[in-house]
Amino acid sequence: MDGATKKSLKKVAEFFDARQVGDVGPLGFRRSTNLTTLLACTERLVAEKIINPGRSAFLDLGCADGRVNLLFSYLARLSVGVELDEWTLDEYGPLRTELMQTLKKEKMPFPDGNIHLFHGDATDETVYDRIAGETGLGLSDFDLFYTYLMMHEEFALMLAEKAKKGAIYMVYGLHKIMPRYEGFRLMKDLSPMEGVLALYEKE
Ligand SMILES: C[S@@+](CC[C@H](N)C(=O)[O-])C[C@H]1O[C@@H](n2cnc3c(N)ncnc32)[C@H](O)[C@@H]1O
Repeated sequence: MDGATKKSLKKVAEFFDARQVGDVGPLGFRRSTNLTTLLACTERLVAEKIINPGRSAFLDLGCADGRVNLLFSYLARLSVGVELDEWTLDEYGPLRTELMQTLKKEKMPFPDGNIHLFHGDATDETVYDRIAGETGLGLSDFDLFYTYLMMHEEFALMLAEKAKKGAIYMVYGLHKIMPRYEGFRLMKDLSPMEGVLALYEKE
């Protein structure tokens, strides 16, 4: 990762971490990932060759306002998200515009055109037809899957059937107790990364 990218990623993380959702109050169900923590994980994931910069295809299952997608857009070839709540997904556009202005002011690079967000239920097969239509990728083409806890078991069931061998399923929000999913190997030596991210490899 070059210095300019590292600086931009730090800025993206700071921008969103100042706007975290749901840690307290009624929006707890849509808590947002701490991007500074996730950024530390991604550095390790690049070093471990789990993220292949510019080549990996990434999918956030339950992407909310797309913040994890924005972070991964610097690291992945394609950064795709699916979100059930349209009003949550609607927050992506204004946040992206504000972030772009912040980065532009500081002459920092902003990734272009590799983010694709979809409204729908991430367990619904027709969503993947739309994703394939727009990106050319089916579920079995993604290298990296991400979710923040909510539907982790349902998503694991779907991925056990549809993801390719060797694909990585990342579950954020776990700590000492890490569930096992049929068809996946818990990467014990790396999990929980930064005390919060469990990694599973599709068998
Ligand atoms: C805890 S939030 C995490 C948001 C984002 N990935 C992050 O880490 O900042 C989980 C999101 O998943 C969404 N969600 C829950 N079930 C879903 C489903 N079946 N399909 C798509 N999105 C879903 C919720 O609406 C919520 O916005």
